[in-house]
Amino acid sequence: MEIKFLWTEDMTVHNDVLDMQHKQLFGKINELLEAIVNDTAHDVVDEMIHFFKDYMDQHFKYEERYLTENTYPDVEAHKQKHDVFVDKYYELKDKIQDGVDANKIVLDIENFMGSWLTQHILVEDQVYAKYFQDHGKNQ
Ligand SMILES: [Fe+2]
Ligand SMILES: [Fe+2]
Repeated sequence: MEIKFLWTEDMTVHNDVLDMQHKQLFGKINELLEAIVNDTAHDVVDEMIHFFKDYMDQHFKYEERYLTENTYPDVEAHKQKHDVFVDKYYELKDKIQDGVDANKIVLDIENFMGSWLTQHILVEDQVYAKYFQDHGKNQ
């Protein structure tokens, strides 16, 4: 299957760890798309749920710390955007525990989480990257 989400250089936030984490996410969302196409959603739901939990714990926390340490003025607003995702994540997790069909969950993950996160990387994360570029902070 052709890759749907491709990380490109213009998406860089000029920090290697953060770029690497963003790339990892793109890879994971592509796996999810592949599972939808191949009708193997049942096999990947648990793994996806674990992946997103780790992603929130590692990437969101790392990025928020990076913004705080570099005295980014809109860090609170950026954190709130991450929190929207965290809330949605727990909503989906509850649905899974309530026994909602895996195919539906995977579509929800793809529709909301996939598009939210890629949009977040493409737009919101670029706002701080540009701010740091404009203010001479590249790492
Ligand atoms: Fe990010
Ligand atoms: Fe972010």
